[in-house]
Amino acid sequence: EKDGFDWFMLKEIAEQPKAVADTLLGRLSDTGALVLDELRLTEQELRDIDKVFVVACGTAYHAGLIAKYAIEHWTRIPVEVELASEFRYRDPVLDRSTLVVVVSQSGETMDTLMALRHAREQKAKVLAICNANGSTIPRESDAVLYTHAGPEVAVASTKGFLTQVVACYLVGAFLAQVRGVKYADEVAAIVDELRALPEKVTEVLATMEPVRELARSLATEDTLLFLGRHVGYPVALEGALKLKELAYIHAEGFAAGELKHGSIALIDQGTPVVVIVPSPLSRESVHGKVVSNIQEVRARGARTIVIAEEGDEDVVPFADHLIRVPRTPTLLAPVVTTVPLQVLACEIAATRGLDVDQPRNLAKSVTVE
Ligand code: M6R
Repeated sequence: EKDGFDWFMLKEIAEQPKAVADTLLGRLSDTGALVLDELRLTEQELRDIDKVFVVACGTAYHAGLIAKYAIEHWTRIPVEVELASEFRYRDPVLDRSTLVVVVSQSGETMDTLMALRHAREQKAKVLAICNANGSTIPRESDAVLYTHAGPEVAVASTKGFLTQVVACYLVGAFLAQVRGVKYADEVAAIVDELRALPEKVTEVLATMEPVRELARSLATEDTLLFLGRHVGYPVALEGALKLKELAYIHAEGFAAGELKHGSIALIDQGTPVVVIVPSPLSRESVHGKVVSNIQEVRARGARTIVIAEEGDEDVVPFADHLIRVPRTPTLLAPVVTTVPLQVLACEIAATRGLDVDQPRNLAKSVTVE
């Protein structure tokens, strides 16, 4: 039931703090260690992993792109992210020391299932990150880490996505813990930061009224661009996908640094451009460069919609619309920066009079290749 919400999607957006908390539940010990017995790999097998593939479709693929940044940084294991529909046709290099992480909310996506079968035939170890208990993908995998998002009814994935991202962090931090790496202190600190996430998502949700208002003013646009860097890049892709599937508006996500290599030619007077700004405090910060990107698109006429951390004053002069999110370590920021993009897409679609929960041409699980 929709519990008083107009759409399942709105209900599921609102459930995200609980979904994230439930996904962390029992997996973070009081001593700061991670407990992931579900991985069902021996310590030796975990230490022997020399390559990780994350394989998924659509929104789950975007979660995989975020996973790459976190897992590589924390563990120093190389990570490749692949669209499931491309994976096996590329004849990827797989063996016993390869970990293939398949990410699927429904656990029934045929492309992902075929990729997992291929990986297992090649003797790779397959870990499923999945939301649907007992579905086909976890049943056929060597191990499964369930995201405890609860049932997701709306075709557009929201809480499914956020919990997939969190599960990927858990896998990365756990691998780092077992293998003992350079960034051990940072990984220990991340455990506390993970615990703080549900509260931060609640904070974002409490400030969404201006985003809804903004969305109503964007409902007649025919194109929107999304820019991000580092983990903000997959968030940009996710924001664009949500808008395409719900509002049937042309939308594209770009790595902000690529703009000058061609796409900036798209910017015209009034083109709405959503920019996801990384934290000014982060060690991996590309903050200054993204602020310059905002200036560049604005100088060419863009209407800028800026998502930035509380306290980031550098963006203020260049933001036509400013959406604030709580301070969050860079790698974890997608959990907060994605939420306004979900609300934006949902509200634009509703304003256009569309069926938010059942967009045209789409099914909740895609069981054909
Ligand atoms: O159930 P899955 O996570 O395997 O689904 C993968 C995609 O089909 C799915 O994320 C799709 O992109 C969503 N409709 C996006 O909102």
